[in-house]
Amino acid sequence: MSDTTVKVLGICGSLRDKSFNKATLQAAIELAPSDIRIETATIGDIPLYNADIQAKGFPASVEALGAKVQAADALLLVTPEYNYSVPGVLKNAIDWVSRLPSQPFAGKGVAIMGASPSMLGTARAQYHLRQICVFLDMHPLNRPEVMIAHATTKFDEAGKLRDATARELIGKLLVDLGAWSRLLQTRTRGA
Ligand SMILES: Cc1cc2nc3c(=O)[nH]c(=O)nc-3n(C[C@H](O)[C@H](O)[C@H](O)COP(=O)(O)O)c2cc1C
Repeated sequence: MSDTTVKVLGICGSLRDKSFNKATLQAAIELAPSDIRIETATIGDIPLYNADIQAKGFPASVEALGAKVQAADALLLVTPEYNYSVPGVLKNAIDWVSRLPSQPFAGKGVAIMGASPSMLGTARAQYHLRQICVFLDMHPLNRPEVMIAHATTKFDEAGKLRDATARELIGKLLVDLGAWSRLLQTRTRGA
């Protein structure tokens, strides 16, 4: 990995094995340009947020996720849509990490994607997630918007994303995320 490689942490908001969103994150890993490296983090082992637990010390799973977020240059959040919003497991993980004193999300660039069997491709959840990113002082990329609708027709039996338009959009999103992240880092350094 060269010094100019952008380290991206991919987090998927679905825990199920055959998740369309996990498959979308996998497609991003395959489509990433050579100057972007995507690592993933799991969120299934994070307990439900409880301030009483926090008062006794952050769970190891939260500390581990926070460290991964901290070490990343940018994030790639891949969200399903549940009841027009972000699934509880993803919101719960974000809520926990947002309580870490080091504020690992702050100042990072973030790209958002999602896949759904319905016709809006997680649009409503993605706009809720953008709002959450504002409070976290993250910097979401505006476009391209990767909203994979009718997901049952876009992945093959093995879970590979076959839709050419979606693959092209993901590739563009990653190129733009790399440039966005570098721009934000330049700004942070005051250069
Ligand atoms: C509790 C629940 C609520 C859902 N609400 C929505 C919704 O508001 N909009 C939507 O497009 N799909 C909705 N769905 C369907 C999901 O998009 C679908 O289950 C999808 O496959 C979940 O993502 P995954 O494949 O990555 O697990 C919902 C599913 C569940 C379980």
